[in-house]
Amino acid sequence: MKMLVVLLLLLAVSNAVEIDGEDDEKPCDNKLTLEPRPHSVSILEFGAVGDGKTLNTLAFQNAIFYLKSFADKGGAQLYVPPGRWLTGSFNLTSHLTLFLEKDAVILGSQDPSHWEIVEPLPSYGRGIELPGRRYRSLINGYMLHDVVITGDNGTINGQGSVWWDWFSSQSLNYSRPHLVEFVMSKYVVVSNLTFVNAPAYNIHPVYCSNVHVLNISVSAPPDSPHTVGIVPDSSDTVCIEDCIIGMGYDAIALKSGWDEYGIAYGRPTTNVHIRHVTLQSATGSSLALGSEMSGGISNVHVEQVRLHNSISGIQFRTTKGRGGYIKDIIISDVEVENIYMAFGASGQFGSHPDDKYDPNALPVLDHITLQDVVGTNITIAGCFTGIEESPFTSFCLSNISLSLNSASPTTWDCSYVSGSSESVFPEPCSDLNTSYSNPSSAHISLLTGNGKAVVL
Ligand SMILES: *[C@@H]1O[C@H](CO)[C@@H](O)[C@H](O)[C@H]1NC(C)=O
Ligand SMILES: *[C@@H]1O[C@H](CO)[C@@H](O)[C@H](O)[C@H]1NC(C)=O
Ligand SMILES: *[C@@H]1O[C@H](CO)[C@@H](O)[C@H](O)[C@H]1NC(C)=O
Ligand SMILES: *[C@@H]1O[C@H](CO)[C@@H](O)[C@H](O)[C@H]1NC(C)=O
Ligand SMILES: *[C@@H]1O[C@H](CO)[C@@H](O)[C@H](O)[C@H]1NC(C)=O
Ligand SMILES: *[C@@H]1O[C@H](CO)[C@@H](O)[C@H](O)[C@H]1NC(C)=O
Ligand SMILES: *[C@@H]1O[C@H](CO)[C@@H](O)[C@H](O)[C@H]1NC(C)=O
Ligand SMILES: *[C@@H]1O[C@H](CO)[C@@H](O)[C@H](O)[C@H]1NC(C)=O
Repeated sequence: MKMLVVLLLLLAVSNAVEIDGEDDEKPCDNKLTLEPRPHSVSILEFGAVGDGKTLNTLAFQNAIFYLKSFADKGGAQLYVPPGRWLTGSFNLTSHLTLFLEKDAVILGSQDPSHWEIVEPLPSYGRGIELPGRRYRSLINGYMLHDVVITGDNGTINGQGSVWWDWFSSQSLNYSRPHLVEFVMSKYVVVSNLTFVNAPAYNIHPVYCSNVHVLNISVSAPPDSPHTVGIVPDSSDTVCIEDCIIGMGYDAIALKSGWDEYGIAYGRPTTNVHIRHVTLQSATGSSLALGSEMSGGISNVHVEQVRLHNSISGIQFRTTKGRGGYIKDIIISDVEVENIYMAFGASGQFGSHPDDKYDPNALPVLDHITLQDVVGTNITIAGCFTGIEESPFTSFCLSNISLSLNSASPTTWDCSYVSGSSESVFPEPCSDLNTSYSNPSSAHISLLTGNGKAVVL
């Protein structure tokens, strides 16, 4: 017991979130400091048993309820020691650090009755997979401030195989849960952890600001259906850096609500910075924007990314009825390797929540810049298929060199898209030689060059 106390004192060195930066800085350039929390308790003090069999939901809930009282005293840390800690879903609280020691594994229960059922998100109007309600995520934050989930490479394991089977056999009664979801929260950090086998998404910040995800690894088997890594959704000022993600479906997907529900909610995903990440997707896209983008997606800067062994490298997705926009996106310094289609933009992607959507709500894709790309073993360089009534505009490609494999049926495929290109190999469609919307602005992002550009 004495040892434990000493250990806990030593571990009290984590961490309230402090983010310093000018508003016009890119989110990952903001200096992130984790101030020590003055208080720390171990989950053991709340009767938790780390045998992988005992259900610890109550221990987590009670510990966090207790730690609520430290919110106005600098916050507190909940320490999870080595062990296998089985739990159903629980809520976090403000000014809290959840710290997973090395070899600490939080295991998601495989019994659906351990996962509460909650209302759908207002910007979706229904569960994403099934109409109606959805399962609450394993670890939840609702209207919180200053929350950190971190550790010394502890693991959050969703044990998702049962959910994948129910999804595939269509025996789910509600949409699947995620591992971590923050709703309407600010100053959130997720770092230094391993995430495996999520039922659906791993990390889902929705209606959040100032979210920093760094140095995590996230994985699920290639055949896990529609598992997704990190999904910033109707959130602003988001940084994702130094992560390695390999999923069944998308590795990182930016979203902002679904058709009439997303349009009505009207909260965009904006000011997103992604850098130094390695992404892989077995059946989706390493990096995806959309298809749910009805609140708009803008001001996204992606740099130093390696995309490999995926069906698609980078994909912009939308469809009629979405409304919204995807604009002012700069993606630079990209390595693509062993990918079927390096780049895609589709105006015919995804389904509708119900038949109340407005087919005349046309999405806008504008000012998309891809530059400084090298690729090997690519089958299709790019496929950009816009919408006749709302063509994609100002797609700017520069300094791209892709080496295609011999299976290539076609190199580029374009329709209803305009923009410009410079030093692109293989030579792109002639649609990208000129911009009929605004030729002068289409070039601004090219001239500022090399990762420094901000298109406004
Ligand atoms: C978790 O938080 C939600 C609000 O998001 C609340 O409705 C629910 O009762 C909380 N559950 C527990 C066990 O505290
Ligand atoms: C990343 O996290 C691991 C533990 O998961 C840690 O050992 C390593 O030092 C971290 N790297 C950085 C740069 O913080
Ligand atoms: C983190 O833990 C995972 C799973 O236990 C392991 O595969 C990985 O090598 C570890 N990473 C580091 C940096 O220790
Ligand atoms: C769905 O509901 C049916 C009927 O209540 C039940 O038998 C089945 O186990 C439920 N499925 C899941 C995955 O919970
Ligand atoms: C990650 O872990 C490293 C090594 O322990 C530590 O120096 C760093 O502060 C941690 N970073 C975050 C953001 O948790
Ligand atoms: C080329 O990429 C494809 C995936 O598109 C992959 O199946 C194949 O193994 C790769 N070839 C080599 C030589 O790596
Ligand atoms: C072109 O892109 C490559 C790969 O990112 C980079 O190394 C090179 O510096 C770029 N060239 C120019 C002129 O920016
Ligand atoms: C597009 O540009 C290429 C050279 O980059 C040129 O060969 C081709 O003729 C141009 N097409 C049109 C329609 O201007």
